[in-house]
Amino acid sequence: MKLRLIKFLKDFLLFTGILRIFSPFNRLFLFIRNFNELKSWIKKNNTDSLLINDYYTPKRDYQKRFLLYKTVSDHLSLDKTDLVYLEFGVASGQSFFWWMKNNTNRCSKFFGFDTFEGLPEDWGGYKKGAMAHGENEVSTDDDRAEFVKGIFQDTMDKFISTHREILSKPKLIHLDADLFSSTIFVLSQLYPFLQKGDVILFDEFNVANHEFLAYKIFTESFYVKMKLIAAQNNFYQTAFVVE
Ligand SMILES: C[S@@+](CC[C@H](N)C(=O)[O-])C[C@H]1O[C@@H](n2cnc3c(N)ncnc32)[C@H](O)[C@@H]1O
Repeated sequence: MKLRLIKFLKDFLLFTGILRIFSPFNRLFLFIRNFNELKSWIKKNNTDSLLINDYYTPKRDYQKRFLLYKTVSDHLSLDKTDLVYLEFGVASGQSFFWWMKNNTNRCSKFFGFDTFEGLPEDWGGYKKGAMAHGENEVSTDDDRAEFVKGIFQDTMDKFISTHREILSKPKLIHLDADLFSSTIFVLSQLYPFLQKGDVILFDEFNVANHEFLAYKIFTESFYVKMKLIAAQNNFYQTAFVVE
């Protein structure tokens, strides 16, 4: 009986298209749904066991992300370790160069992926092309660094096929591309290489329709477990360890 009713309702909606009257509110509904998921997630994960956590703070201070990096690095001894660092969203290289300076191991490798022509789509108030920094701005003499220019969706396939050995080492993956599409794409491409102990940083985690949504869809669809170890700016920046 219940199934017949559901079938009838679905057929009715398909035939009439009546739900289109709510179309102007599509984005709002999506935001409300994802924001509520985010808030529930925060409630569950806002614990004293984190290395650092400033929830709730009324003031966002973007510089605090460097404190998160330092705390995670000290905790996991990432300053001396032979590190494979992969950053998605380099822009002018602020976070990229922080990690490079912090790590003194000559065997480490640092890969920075970016269009270097800005965001490939609008992101909130930022328009497509925002945050463009030419790749020359991020050049360095340190031969441990390699920049991969282009949209991730075009460059990652080749990168993966030529760096399989490196990708199977312990990794720090830094997701700072802001967009849902970019973040979910990168996570799903790197899925086969994820290992217990790999570190994953998100730079805009608490943005409900973007990085948070990518995290949620990825962990639920690929059955990947990650342990939250640190957070700053009300979970805007987060650090996880793959379990
Ligand atoms: C917030 S900025 C990165 C900031 C940087 N990590 C820092 O600390 O200064 C986001 C960057 O992601 C890049 N980006 C987003 N989606 C991308 C994609 N699909 N492919 C390549 N680059 C992308 C944009 O070009 C932009 O430079």
